[in-house]
Amino acid sequence: MPDADPEPAPTGGFTPEHGFTNDTRSTKAGVEKIFSGPSGARRWSREVEALQRFAGTGYPPQLVDRSRSELRVVTRLIRGVNGAEILRAPQSTEAEGLMRSAGRVLEDLGRDGVVHGDFGPQNLLVTDEGVRVIDWEWCGALTDPDLDAFWFDFIVRYHYPHAASLLPTFWRACGHDPDPRRGRDVLLSAFGIRVAECSPGSPAIDSWRTRRDWVMQRFAELGPMT
Ligand SMILES: Nc1ncnc2c1ncn2[C@@H]1O[C@H](COP(=O)(O)OP(=O)(O)O)[C@@H](O)[C@H]1O
Ligand SMILES: [Mg+2]
Repeated sequence: MPDADPEPAPTGGFTPEHGFTNDTRSTKAGVEKIFSGPSGARRWSREVEALQRFAGTGYPPQLVDRSRSELRVVTRLIRGVNGAEILRAPQSTEAEGLMRSAGRVLEDLGRDGVVHGDFGPQNLLVTDEGVRVIDWEWCGALTDPDLDAFWFDFIVRYHYPHAASLLPTFWRACGHDPDPRRGRDVLLSAFGIRVAECSPGSPAIDSWRTRRDWVMQRFAELGPMT
């Protein structure tokens, strides 16, 4: 497990990865995230609560500052390589290692009853001391204990399909059962919760529908939902 002790703030920047919907930038104080878009206040509250509540696990970045009125959160910069960047070179030994580490992190978080809610390679930072987990704004909104495993699997297949052949390593490491029927049901219900937090008429709704159709297609032979 990574070390949660406070350390001197590193300087320098970071590279944002796929899926970032807020305004995030590197400042002297740390990484500043301003929550933009629909349900910003709700996402802000969830992120702040999770950063505080799960600090002891050693995985979230350290909360440095926050402002409810500005929907702003500042966290300590974590020096690491984003998991999505690693998956762009899926032949690398790092990609297989990322799958194994992601599975172990999930198993560890699950033991503490944590459901992250947006657990994917884009929200993992690989550091010299281990893997850290960022972007906790969906923590608490989605509570199915299997969600994070199926979400990770989905994100890899959908956004990084060339790395999907490495997923068995992830499933072995996380200790969850990759039952396809359960996966489909968990994902479709999570997509529904995501849509419920979109503004009416928002283009994001279409992108969740596209994902829903993709999942239905993938599991077409399974029959009706349970
Ligand atoms: N504490 C941090 N240290 C280093 N990089 C970070 C940190 N917090 C966020 N980032 C970077 O900013 C990007 C966007 O942050 P994230 O919390 O994932 O926002 P979003 O909800 O918009 O996806 C991440 O992909 C990551 O590269
Ligand atoms: Mg993110």
